[in-house]
Amino acid sequence: MIRNRLSPSVSLIAFTAALACTESRSEPARGEAVELGSTGQALSRGDDRNDARGHQPQRHHHPGRCEQPPEPEPDPVTFTPATAAARSGRRAGSAVDNGPLTNEPIYAQLLGEQFNALTPENATKWGSLQPVDPNHWEFEPADAIADFADEHEQVVKGHTLIWHQQLPSFIDADTTARQLERYSTRHIDRTVRHFRRDFFAWDVVNEAMADDGSGLRPTPFSNAFGERYIDRAFREAQEADRDARLYYNDYGIEGINAKSNAVYDLMTRLLARHVPIDGIGFQGHFDARFVPSLEELVQNFQRFAELGLSINVSELDVQVRNLGGTRAYKFAVQKQIYQRIAAACSQVEACEGITTWGFTDAHSWIDATFGPDDPLLFDDLYQKKPAYFGYVDGFLGVPLDDASLEPNLVGNSSLEAGLDGWSPIGSAVLSTETQSAHTGLRSVRASGRTDTWMGPGHDVSALSRAGRTLDVSVWTRLAGAASASTSLTAQVTCAGQATSFVPIASATASDADWTQLAGALVLPECDLQQVVVYVEGPAAGVDLLADDLALREQPLPNLITNSDFEAGTAGWFNFGPDTLGTTSDAHGGSSAAIATARTDTWNGIGTDLTSRVAPRATYRAEAFLKIAGAASDRVGLTAAVTCTGQATQFLPVGSATGSSSDWVRVAGSVTVPNCAVQSFVLYAEGPAAGVDLLLDDVAFWQIDAGPPPSSNVIDNSGFETGTDGWFGFGPVTAVSSADRAHGGTRSARISGRTDTWNGLATSLVGRLTPGASYSVSAWAQVGSGSNSVSLTFQNACDGGAANFTFVAGATANDSTWTQLQGTLVAPSCTLTTGNFYIEGAPAGVDIYLDDVEIQPLP
Ligand code: XIL
Repeated sequence: MIRNRLSPSVSLIAFTAALACTESRSEPARGEAVELGSTGQALSRGDDRNDARGHQPQRHHHPGRCEQPPEPEPDPVTFTPATAAARSGRRAGSAVDNGPLTNEPIYAQLLGEQFNALTPENATKWGSLQPVDPNHWEFEPADAIADFADEHEQVVKGHTLIWHQQLPSFIDADTTARQLERYSTRHIDRTVRHFRRDFFAWDVVNEAMADDGSGLRPTPFSNAFGERYIDRAFREAQEADRDARLYYNDYGIEGINAKSNAVYDLMTRLLARHVPIDGIGFQGHFDARFVPSLEELVQNFQRFAELGLSINVSELDVQVRNLGGTRAYKFAVQKQIYQRIAAACSQVEACEGITTWGFTDAHSWIDATFGPDDPLLFDDLYQKKPAYFGYVDGFLGVPLDDASLEPNLVGNSSLEAGLDGWSPIGSAVLSTETQSAHTGLRSVRASGRTDTWMGPGHDVSALSRAGRTLDVSVWTRLAGAASASTSLTAQVTCAGQATSFVPIASATASDADWTQLAGALVLPECDLQQVVVYVEGPAAGVDLLADDLALREQPLPNLITNSDFEAGTAGWFNFGPDTLGTTSDAHGGSSAAIATARTDTWNGIGTDLTSRVAPRATYRAEAFLKIAGAASDRVGLTAAVTCTGQATQFLPVGSATGSSSDWVRVAGSVTVPNCAVQSFVLYAEGPAAGVDLLLDDVAFWQIDAGPPPSSNVIDNSGFETGTDGWFGFGPVTAVSSADRAHGGTRSARISGRTDTWNGLATSLVGRLTPGASYSVSAWAQVGSGSNSVSLTFQNACDGGAANFTFVAGATANDSTWTQLQGTLVAPSCTLTTGNFYIEGAPAGVDIYLDDVEIQPLP
């Protein structure tokens, strides 16, 4: 019998009906009175205490017959991985770890509720079953898993009979080929028989292929027997349980590459030799940066299916620690990947299902093997992550997120798995809508609305960053009115401020079809406390439906090229006499910058952004900082800005209390002065001399371009920071004064005047186009009374005699600002003198001047 030649659809039925076929078996199994050792010896119950737990032969939960596959279940109100997969005749499984299964009730509860297939993560590996003694088996932990599966109507796949890792200690370099053959034959026979009533399938051979696809991986098995060890393992497993489905399992073969090509060829050879192989498991241990496209996954799965093999993804997890970006961003990308894998499986008929390698980030092998990460469906606290919703969506055919856009940060966007993250605004009541959906099978309904502003809301606080712009969209539909104006609104709360309601989009929604509301939400630069987006608008009593909420951060380029120090410190320098280097104590990735030998608080790590910044623009900076050598100390980001011809200004960007045990995030914004920027350096600094400063994951991006560049020929028009560019005309004293101000908070005060012509001047030499006309405006007050003031232009051509040209005049008083307006025509020559000044009031009377503008006329 060639059992591997099952057509894909038949193999699918075999998969789902696997448990129904147990009654037809004749060999003894776990819990039966007699069990044969592979040596041919009959083992009494007393010989194997692990089997003497009183299991009854008829204990199996699917006592039905093979010819009656299970009835399809009606769709639940809300889907889980298990029910979403089951809808298309597939399974969603999880690896199970005996530790938390025994010790954490929440682990056991979710495992039982959310999945319909299990794989022992370690309990059925050869080294777990026979740790030290070739004549002794330890079945207890795996039996506990079988019992759990039995109680929760889950199928179990054993993992894994022949693998080069986690082997018994009695297999080592000295083991002869004959011993190896005898041990492995006994192991396969004994183990498969033991679980044959409990397990519907086995990973028979694991990871046999070399990573580069050049041939078999060198292992004790391949070294001793070449490729034939694979044939033999499958045949022995088949001997031990004729009903078990038998799989080859490997990693790095999900896409089309040298290794998957080599495994494809291996499968082809095995099938040609009639090796009883039913299917192939693609482990699916992904790094989020390198996941094949949907098309590639489907194409690869399909070619294996065309060999007659069943397909499954057997150990799925998705590492995100190397992605960069915020947690919300990483989780959004991870969601896309889980959805993609589930979609790929759903699109290949021969795909039987997906097993994730665990389900909670609290228990994942990734942390210990590759570094702290969050690769699974539930977080450390057993809360559903975006990945969970993506996984469910993938099985239900919800379209994949548009890859040309920034990722959708909303986890539960399509509501297939319930109302997580959604809450009603006002006294509306939310429920899962099962009759209508924009995509997938479910949406949210807000009923009991007693006012227009009530509707379905989603808290997006954790997805929102101050100063960022979000593209927000949602689909909506009415029940109870033919049409109504409907809006998408954001409720935004900054610390210490009243909540504001920001309109995002409006449209006329109807009861006949879904309507999209889409717009941009500009988040204020503040300490954001809460952001909730919601749908509102129709009259009280009309129900509002919503589906497919998307929230995407508008992309902003990080102006820092080397932001993560993964490849060294290029582009950075020591700010001060300290020493700059890298350290493996990283915030993200595996490397961070470190400043050592610091001799002052301001010593640190800097990067030159002069060519990246523009005058008047505002930038947001964000970085992660840590210290070494003190438990805690101040850490900060500062910008050192030099305007041409001026002293360097040190602008604080942000600071925090740094610690030696945790990375702290320092963020803030900086506005570049309105000047010719000669140098702009962003640097990290802060702790006391001698304390090392660590820096990682630095971002710097523009959040506001500032006012448009002015065509005002006067640079310092408002005297906000001084009287730079101006000089006394006559023996006067001129200062930037906060006494009075027209715009801003200061004006120029001109005092000590000894004549009517004394005033304040600026030179227009080199600033005017010969022959061009300019509009002139300035604002003036006098220190006392009411006096006439005027603007005068003292000009001379080519070193000739000076002319005094009247530009504008008015009567100014001492309590309100008076505008002086006029026109100035630049002489058609090269100006050698060009003093523009205010004058006029009697000696002893102060003059105030502000907001001087000289703009070219069209
Ligand atoms: C891992 C387990 O998750 C860990 O607990 C154990 O320490 C090592 O093995 N490919 C496989 C799995 O086939 O058996 C591995 O499981 C992960 C990689």
